[in-house]
Amino acid sequence: MDLLAEAVLAGAAPDHLETLDLPREYLAAHIRAQDVGMFDGVADKDVRKSLRVGHVPMPEPAPDEVVVAVMASSINYNTVWSATFEPVPTFNFLERYGRQDGFAARHDLPHQVLGSDAAGVVVRVGAGVRRWRAGDHVVVSCVQVDDQEPATHNDAMLGAEQRIWGYETNFGGLAHYTLVRASQLLPKPAHLTWEEAACVLLTAATSYRMLVGEHGARIKQGDVVLIWGATGGLGAYAVQLVKNAGGIPVGVVSSERKAELLRRLGCDVVIDRNAIGLGGDAPLTPERTVELGKRLGRAIRAEVGEDPHVVFDYIGQATFGLSVFVVRRGGVVVTCGSSTGYQHQFDNRYLWMNLKRIIGSHAANLQEQAECNRLFQLGHLSPILSSVHRLEDVAEAARLVQENRHTGKVGVLCLAPEPGLGVTDPELRARIGEERLNPLRELSAVSG
Ligand SMILES: NC(=O)c1ccc[n+]([C@@H]2O[C@H](COP(=O)([O-])OP(=O)(O)OC[C@H]3O[C@@H](n4cnc5c(N)ncnc54)[C@H](OP(=O)(O)O)[C@@H]3O)[C@@H](O)[C@H]2O)c1
Repeated sequence: MDLLAEAVLAGAAPDHLETLDLPREYLAAHIRAQDVGMFDGVADKDVRKSLRVGHVPMPEPAPDEVVVAVMASSINYNTVWSATFEPVPTFNFLERYGRQDGFAARHDLPHQVLGSDAAGVVVRVGAGVRRWRAGDHVVVSCVQVDDQEPATHNDAMLGAEQRIWGYETNFGGLAHYTLVRASQLLPKPAHLTWEEAACVLLTAATSYRMLVGEHGARIKQGDVVLIWGATGGLGAYAVQLVKNAGGIPVGVVSSERKAELLRRLGCDVVIDRNAIGLGGDAPLTPERTVELGKRLGRAIRAEVGEDPHVVFDYIGQATFGLSVFVVRRGGVVVTCGSSTGYQHQFDNRYLWMNLKRIIGSHAANLQEQAECNRLFQLGHLSPILSSVHRLEDVAEAARLVQENRHTGKVGVLCLAPEPGLGVTDPELRARIGEERLNPLRELSAVSG
């Protein structure tokens, strides 16, 4: 381990951290440009074949950037996209970004460090950074923006230069160090461990914008919200947000085990999609959409007595037609992704005749991220970590997510030598209680 990392782990004072050199190289999970094409014609694009852990060069920080020593990170589905080079190789994004020259050119490399979540300690700040200093405990928002672009000041997600860090940029969070803009930082909730704090922002803030924020569905008391994949990364935060808002979450899952975990999250109504015939890979033809939509609608009405006001969809091709079908007259389908395919089919008559709306949503601006982070700081939202892996085993961790064998979030320890570290407000932690803090945690030890 390098001297700076040792100092961070020893809890060195900020002044001391600033005197230590950044290492020339650091350990990072990455993909290689030379591997693009390795899965052409291959049915199982196994991320364990493309995702590597090894040393990469340390980039030079720009004046508005910080270097964070990453204590923990987590797997997001975008790491699966990057490591399968689908739907496009993410090196295309780096190449396009790098053409801007200046500091952007640093991102266009023959390797890409992945990862869009992190919790850690600031170790270097650029000359133009005002709000952060070495030693600060932070979590990182995945949204990199250009604050000199006018649209950013309306809604940061509308800026054309908005990029998802560790997916559309290099130097992501699944590593010992990461390089981010100062405008991506928020304070780490003091009562959470490193790995808990690192499994929050990307998915929780995305769900927050989709459901609560002014650009999303704006749920209110009593709203019935259908949540696909309700024990997944986005879904398990969506369930908590609906509960907090006084709504009625209707969670869809694919097994009794997941149904049990969902009840532990406090979800009032649980639907096993196998039970309504939505278990296999059969395509959602127009006929099947009507047949399954009626079954799903009956199952929801049998439990809550009415149709959903909002459907929370990121599954895509396999569910979207159903979402449009079952949402009530005047209701909203809010979507941020398409895990099962992005060419959606739906019968538009159900949409226009019933004045339904579709909202496209993406990540969350820093204000929404901060509002969401505050809910964790207050103990109103709980991390949904289900297992923790070492950085060296990141490919196995990503494979779990690729094969949908996980629940909630899969954590990755980077510099943190073991789980359970990083809590600086143990009193608040004790007040909230371990069980409430970890509703999905199945393993307390590190998995390899
Ligand atoms: N735009 C954004 O800002 C943004 C942010 C985060 C994520 N996303 C996207 O959202 C998607 C999900 O991300 P995540 O982190 O929540 O993933 P995740 O943890 O892997 O959750 C996926 C869920 O999908 C459900 N699912 C899988 N196949 C299904 C099918 N055929 N029918 C119905 N449900 C199915 C699974 O639930 P069951 O098997 O239990 O039903 C699983 O829990 C990804 O495509 C990701 O890229 C977008």
